[in-house]
Amino acid sequence: MRNIVLTGFMGSGKSTVGRLLADRLGMRLFDTDAEVERMAGMSIPEIFERYGEERFRELEHRVVHAASELRGCVIVTGGGVVLNPENVALLRRSGVIFYLHAEPEEICRRLSGDTGRPLLRGGRLEERVRELMRQRAERYADHDFMVDTTRMSPEQVAERVAELYLQAENLLRWGTEGQREEEGDRDGADRDT
Ligand code: S3P
Repeated sequence: MRNIVLTGFMGSGKSTVGRLLADRLGMRLFDTDAEVERMAGMSIPEIFERYGEERFRELEHRVVHAASELRGCVIVTGGGVVLNPENVALLRRSGVIFYLHAEPEEICRRLSGDTGRPLLRGGRLEERVRELMRQRAERYADHDFMVDTTRMSPEQVAERVAELYLQAENLLRWGTEGQREEEGDRDGADRDT
């Protein structure tokens, strides 16, 4: 089974949906932010404060590399993982990429009062969110499936992602089985003559 990879802006619900999906499908959960924090032995805001964003992105890339070697996992990524095209290529090779979208107003509603996201500190939250979303729009467009979560509960999003993923996996299996049957028919035909 391929991995399920969740991408999307901060506050798009990746972590909650990832947990629900892993439970629902009995898959292991791998969260790249949590793994970066574990590796560094400190929180993401601390990494940004002490070493800067560049160092965080290096650690994130190493973690994505490790994640891309897993199979049958739900991989939850940090919102900026798509900034490095190599990350996206690695994740795509290992799984199906789902982009969880949410409108900026909804992102702000979900993130108001949040203090754990260094890139949203300073200035007006809504301006910052809009600006970063605008800068990243093209990167998020590189996905296999998009789910607009703006008016959906995390449970509904998890259900939709699970449905799309199982369809994609089944189609893949039908594809190879169909191919095998055809090959079998051809072999049979060859033997008869
Ligand atoms: C970031 C998103 C965060 C975290 C870091 C940077 C980003 O993850 O990786 O603060 O650049 O969008 P979430 O998307 O889980 O908030």
